[in-house]
Amino acid sequence: MNRRLGVLISGRGSNLQAIIEAIAAGPLEATIALVISNRPGVRGLDRARAAGIATTVIEHGSFPTREVYDLALIDALRRHDVGLVCLAGFMRLLSTAFVSAFPSAILNVHPSLLPAFPGVEAQQQALDHGVKVAGCTVHFVTAELDAGPIVMQAAVPVLADDTTATLSARILVEEHRLYPLAIARVLAGGWRMEGRRFLAG
Ligand code: GAR
Repeated sequence: MNRRLGVLISGRGSNLQAIIEAIAAGPLEATIALVISNRPGVRGLDRARAAGIATTVIEHGSFPTREVYDLALIDALRRHDVGLVCLAGFMRLLSTAFVSAFPSAILNVHPSLLPAFPGVEAQQQALDHGVKVAGCTVHFVTAELDAGPIVMQAAVPVLADDTTATLSARILVEEHRLYPLAIARVLAGGWRMEGRRFLAG
């Protein structure tokens, strides 16, 4: 698989930073070809620029439909010869056209043990539900929200005095560890899908 990553963000970019650091430190053999944000002025863009990575802002508000917006994303990613798209806090659903443009080559990190608590505020959903174990998931992206095949997961305990902030912070530590590992696993190839099951090696 082409090891040129396109990272899509909407904000803080701490998972982007974890990918940047895993590449710099060696365990993740890849290049970030482009970072795209759908919002201008976000911290993740500063992190990318500080690492010397090409960035572009494609604001969804200036496009008439999701499909037209996604075509602009595809165009930018293709122009940078991206082989694997990594969503890192990119808070938009992708169209079937986008998903078909990068078959089995779009990953997302989500702050819950999917299929529990898809969508927004997953950590708050977990607290509200009263689960004792929470975590994060790296999965392939399909057109259905947070529903694609799972690549890797990591669990953390939910403590009695947790707030959304404390639980989110505990999960985030695992996201930063897991996402570069999962990207490396997918880039390494030699895996197969059996139904929904991602089987490596
Ligand atoms: C992360 O917790 C990520 O899992 C979550 O947004 C945060 C982005 O943080 N993504 C989702 O909820 C996607 N459904 P970051 O911008 O610091 O990486």
